[in-house]
Amino acid sequence: MVPAWLCLLCLFIPQAFPGAQPAEVYVDVPENYGGNFPLYLTKLPLPRKETEGQIVLSGDSGVAAEGPFAVDPQSGFLLVTRALDREEQAEYQLQVTLETEDGRVLWGPQHVLVHVKDENDQASGHQATATVDVSIVENTWVPLDPVHLAENLQVPYPHHIAQVHWSGGDVHYHLESQPLGPFDVDKEGKLYVTRELDREAQAEYLLQVRAQNTRGEDYPAEPLELHVVVMDENDNMPVCPPRGPAISIPELSPPGTKVAKLSAEDADAPGSPNSHVVYRLLSPEPEEGAEGRAFELDSTSGSVTLGAAPLQAGQNILLQVLVIDLGGAEGGLSSTCEIAVTIMDINDHAPEFTTSQIEPLSLPEDTEPGTLVTTLMATDADLEPAFRLMDFAIEAGDVEGTFGLDWEPDSGRVQLRLLKNLSYEAAPSHKLVVVVRSVAEPVGPDPGPGATVTVTVLVERVTPPPQLDQESYQASVPVSTPAGSLLLTIRPSDPMSNPLRFSLVNDSEGWLCIEEVSGEVHIARALQGAQPGDKYTVLVEAQDADEPTLSTSATLVIHFLKAPSAPTPTVAPEPSRHLCTPRQDRGVVVGGPRGDPDLAGGHGPYSFALGPNPTAQRDWRLRALNGSHAYLTLGLHWVEPREHVVPIVVSHHDRVWQIQVRVIVCRCNVEGQCMRKVGRMKGMPTKLSAVGILVGTLIAIGIFLILIFTHLTLARKKDLDQPVDSVPLKAAV
Ligand SMILES: *[C@@H]1O[C@H](CO)[C@@H](O)[C@H](O)[C@H]1NC(C)=O
Ligand SMILES: *[C@@H]1O[C@H](CO)[C@@H](O)[C@H](O)[C@H]1NC(C)=O
Ligand SMILES: *[C@@H]1O[C@H](CO)[C@@H](O)[C@H](O)[C@H]1NC(C)=O
Repeated sequence: MVPAWLCLLCLFIPQAFPGAQPAEVYVDVPENYGGNFPLYLTKLPLPRKETEGQIVLSGDSGVAAEGPFAVDPQSGFLLVTRALDREEQAEYQLQVTLETEDGRVLWGPQHVLVHVKDENDQASGHQATATVDVSIVENTWVPLDPVHLAENLQVPYPHHIAQVHWSGGDVHYHLESQPLGPFDVDKEGKLYVTRELDREAQAEYLLQVRAQNTRGEDYPAEPLELHVVVMDENDNMPVCPPRGPAISIPELSPPGTKVAKLSAEDADAPGSPNSHVVYRLLSPEPEEGAEGRAFELDSTSGSVTLGAAPLQAGQNILLQVLVIDLGGAEGGLSSTCEIAVTIMDINDHAPEFTTSQIEPLSLPEDTEPGTLVTTLMATDADLEPAFRLMDFAIEAGDVEGTFGLDWEPDSGRVQLRLLKNLSYEAAPSHKLVVVVRSVAEPVGPDPGPGATVTVTVLVERVTPPPQLDQESYQASVPVSTPAGSLLLTIRPSDPMSNPLRFSLVNDSEGWLCIEEVSGEVHIARALQGAQPGDKYTVLVEAQDADEPTLSTSATLVIHFLKAPSAPTPTVAPEPSRHLCTPRQDRGVVVGGPRGDPDLAGGHGPYSFALGPNPTAQRDWRLRALNGSHAYLTLGLHWVEPREHVVPIVVSHHDRVWQIQVRVIVCRCNVEGQCMRKVGRMKGMPTKLSAVGILVGTLIAIGIFLILIFTHLTLARKKDLDQPVDSVPLKAAV
């Protein structure tokens, strides 16, 4: 654009002094010039080499040139910014120097004389100049080359980036930025960036500059476009992906198992080193002495895999990965990313008992079903609660189901319980094999010997203590009962049980005695001091004859009754009964007194005793059956067979009866029954007829004998007539 201007300027420069030595420059300026300002006057003869200096323009007396003159630092033209008036000032003395910032003069001073010409009658000449302006516009309003600007540029702002120029009067520049950006244009068409740019916010701008007249109307020309390209700087560090939940990896996973892929973002220009990130594993560090790392990281792809070093179930590991841009080169920006990894448990451990063998246990035979035999403990080395659930079973030794197991699946504690009665005879010992298994499907080797435990249970034989036929005994006796009277007999409840030995524990009065073997309780001495209505309680002890440690006891309560003034006659004789002798295992039941009006409804309780007749006491035994009946048996092995009348004293509270019991004792036949029964058979002869028969029989025998003797006598008479040696010897007897 400068050459076009020079053509115009030649009109105003009749005299110039080009040359190395700064001779004075003379410039003519028409007064009241009606074209556009600034008006370029002349190119100053500035030296080409000295580009660093600053052009300084000063006025006549060396002070700065206030007012209408200036020098365009780019082109080196002297220009005037407004119209000059010759009447106001006809000449201007200027000087131009090139100086460093600290005021050292590099070149100059160049003196310039500006002369204001009187141009009153040259208005038509300006019209012609306006035509030339059009061609100048076409030359200066040319497309601009793209501008490359570094982001974050540290320079004073606003910062000049380009220049446009519309050659015409009264131009006003209007700038638009697509998208909106920190750009500005000043009156002179200088484009500025007003603050730092950020490529990551906006990488390119399209600026459009329009030339407008003072009324804000566009000059009829396309707007000038300027591409501003923001150049990348490595001002963004790599950004880690958000940390997600922990990644679960099953334990015992082989090396090379994929764990995660880390991909960090870098906002700097894609494809440039500024966004080229590489990865480095910071932690976990390899363990001392381990054969490798637990994790391997591919530095390019960021993928994490399992390494050779083993990991334990339940471990929580935080991987720390350093991400560096510039491909890891010196000066790259970095971030540390974290990946949480949890090593999941698998069911690779079988549960095991804490003891493999336990001492034999003894259980008494009478242990109640449900009793706890023993508690076994098992453990499982897995961590996951679901893998620690256990099942137990008795695998051998309990075909009958005598034992059972009770457990809570998650406790590891199992109770061995007795379910059925034990029997020493059936099985004196049990050898139970208990096994434990994991509820969840196990992984890995089969359970070892620790999954089995053997429990030996020994059954202890139990002999039950003796039992008596009553829990307590009662008897009522008149205070006058003589010594030796049988009171009652204490017996075992089971006659087949071991024999017992009886004793009285606390018979402090010495009134009673008990037969050690039979259990018969007798009055030992006269009941002196006993008062009717009193009670006397003694404790009877019964010991097992074979095992004296086994014993039992019962109370015997004796109620004393008033002595019968004279034993009341028999209420009613008991009907007779039969017993055979020698003594058999039989007796007769004796009831209470019949016809007793007070007791007609109830039966007792009575107490029974043999009457105080020594023969009766010797020959008979009486035992209470219950409150209303007693049992009478022979007291001796042999009792004379005949009819006996047995006196029995029956008492109830303080009332006493004596009853006579008729018992017919007969001989026993082979079946142990009374022979007398035959004599009762119908059609048998009476005594008289029997005597008749006997006499008749004897007479018949006598006749028979007479006949024989007669016959023998006749025969001997015949023999006497015969020779002697013919007589048989036997006949001589
Ligand atoms: C077990 O023994 C008890 C007491 O000895 C007895 O009462 C029960 O009936 C017995 N049970 C079985 C099933 O034999
Ligand atoms: C004997 O012992 C029993 C039970 O302890 C008791 O009730 C009774 O009074 C005692 N008898 C005498 C005479 O001490
Ligand atoms: C007592 O025993 C006798 C003979 O065994 C029997 O007939 C009677 O019913 C029994 N009385 C009571 C109250 O048990």
